[in-house]
Amino acid sequence: MTKVITLILSCLVWGGLGKPQFPEQEKDPVFWNSWAQRTLKNAMNTQEPNKNVAKNLILFLGDGMGVPTVTAARILKGQLSGQYGEEVQLEMDKFPYVSLSKTYNTNAQVPDSAGTATAYLCGVKANEGTVGVSAAAVRGQCNTTQGNEVTSILKWAKDAGKSVGIVTTTRVNHATPSAAYAHCVDRDWYSDGEMPAEALQDGCKDIARQLMENIPDINVIMGGGRKYMLPKNTSDVEYPEEKKHSGTRKDGRNLIQEWIDRRKDKKGYYVWNKQELLSVNPSTADYLLGLFEPGDLTYDLDRDRSTDPSLTEMVEVAIKILRKNPEGFYLLVEGGRIDHGHHEGKAKQALHEAVEMDRAIGRAGLLTSAHDTLTVVTADHSHVFNFGGYTMRGNSIFGLAPMVSDVDQKPFTSILYGNGPGFKLVNGSRVNVSTVDYQQNDYQAQAAVPLRMETHGGEDVAVFAKGPMAHLLHGVQEQNYIPHVMAYAACVGQNKAHCRSGNSATSIAIAPPSLALIITATWLLC
Ligand SMILES: *[C@@H]1O[C@H](CO)[C@@H](O)[C@H](O)[C@H]1NC(C)=O
Ligand SMILES: *[C@@H]1O[C@H](CO)[C@@H](O)[C@H](O)[C@H]1NC(C)=O
Ligand SMILES: *[C@@H]1O[C@H](CO)[C@@H](O)[C@H](O)[C@H]1NC(C)=O
Ligand SMILES: *[C@@H]1O[C@H](CO)[C@@H](O)[C@H](O)[C@H]1NC(C)=O
Ligand SMILES: [Zn+2]
Repeated sequence: MTKVITLILSCLVWGGLGKPQFPEQEKDPVFWNSWAQRTLKNAMNTQEPNKNVAKNLILFLGDGMGVPTVTAARILKGQLSGQYGEEVQLEMDKFPYVSLSKTYNTNAQVPDSAGTATAYLCGVKANEGTVGVSAAAVRGQCNTTQGNEVTSILKWAKDAGKSVGIVTTTRVNHATPSAAYAHCVDRDWYSDGEMPAEALQDGCKDIARQLMENIPDINVIMGGGRKYMLPKNTSDVEYPEEKKHSGTRKDGRNLIQEWIDRRKDKKGYYVWNKQELLSVNPSTADYLLGLFEPGDLTYDLDRDRSTDPSLTEMVEVAIKILRKNPEGFYLLVEGGRIDHGHHEGKAKQALHEAVEMDRAIGRAGLLTSAHDTLTVVTADHSHVFNFGGYTMRGNSIFGLAPMVSDVDQKPFTSILYGNGPGFKLVNGSRVNVSTVDYQQNDYQAQAAVPLRMETHGGEDVAVFAKGPMAHLLHGVQEQNYIPHVMAYAACVGQNKAHCRSGNSATSIAIAPPSLALIITATWLLC
């Protein structure tokens, strides 16, 4: 009888779905033991590090994707496919090597996306708010730029003859991508329209212009940011009636048209919507500029699926274009709006952005091989986002803790922020979340301290790696170590002594395919 009551109760708890509290098989020690033994066997088999030369390099950067975000995105991914969630694996979870990255900026304990981008792209820690310049440069002071420029792994790869690309869900001149090509003491100088007159007089250049001029042959550029490329008052192609989306440039230049003109005799395509993107033939295109919004792309949950490409779709086209180069490629992919979702206190938006980036990681894995491609997944910094409250197995990641507060007797969501716009008092006390729709896309989770914008977090972030030299990304490291490993693996940049012919790395890289060739040739001859 009590069993029946328990069953009925648990059915009620599980929303009448009839879902047991956890998978039946988990009651059996055999399940856990054999799972762990299988994993152990796989671990033994991957003990031998992959010391090939990396032909290709891919960096997936989840902006603001701290470890709590990774865990919550994993649960969301599982729940979206009808599972409990905790037990599933993200694509990044399948990578064999993980390390921690210390994210602080030279002048900030809790960093921003500009100083951190300089670290994981240029290999040098820098001040917050600055991109592609060393810590000797001061934010906003144009006259501290010259002589303090540092170059990125994207440039090192380009100089070594590789194809290079940038794909982001933010504007292409936002903090993360801009450290790959620009040297700017202020991340907000998107176009000359955002720059102070003094900086322009002193000869500093806006970031959109630097995208077109510094490394003129970036093969693939995809994201948002049309308005920063167009002269002031030029109306936007997609939103012609909306003034806020029109061009911002004071110098009258149309950087999109300039890009198209430069590509006249080469195989270059400019696209601004999904249909155009998907009609590009990647086997004939050598250059692609895709600008899908005047500013940032929309959140994936809000995306117009007929006109705007997903991050996964952009990544697929990018890799198909880049991988044609026999010298290989470097690709930076940013899931840039995980960060924005968190800043707005909208955890559901942030987590769906993270799930979509994970899908793109899976697609990239299908289009490349860990034999010759080093893929790294990391974040620039974390957020003051967390989830807790002793929720039961399989609880909706956006759901409530199973008990009410023993102080104010009100329910609370598992997801909470340390600070942010979700702080709300009604009649001097905390909102009763049962009276609002906390499962809605734009719900702002409660925060301890009111702020219009939730802040970044200061704890270490994870670095996932697979492919050649991935084993060098282990332990607790400074963030600026990442591009040094990637460059070493690909024999680009400053550390190439090990790449001379006859050394082990190169010979190992050549061995497997040539062995395969010999076997095939022998078989054909016999
Ligand atoms: C650099 O510019 C700042 C203002 O941005 C000014 O205060 C400073 O004196 C300048 N330094 C030099 C060496 O010109
Ligand atoms: C842009 O439009 C505004 C108002 O419509 C006008 O005052 C301004 O002169 C225009 N600027 C340019 C560069 O055309
Ligand atoms: C919170 O709201 C729910 C749903 O309206 C209600 O049942 C509950 O009594 C409320 N709790 C408090 C402490 O006000
Ligand atoms: C706040 O207090 C006022 C006055 O006691 C009351 O009329 C109102 O319903 C309360 N609002 C909420 C949301 O509880
Ligand atoms: Zn941010």
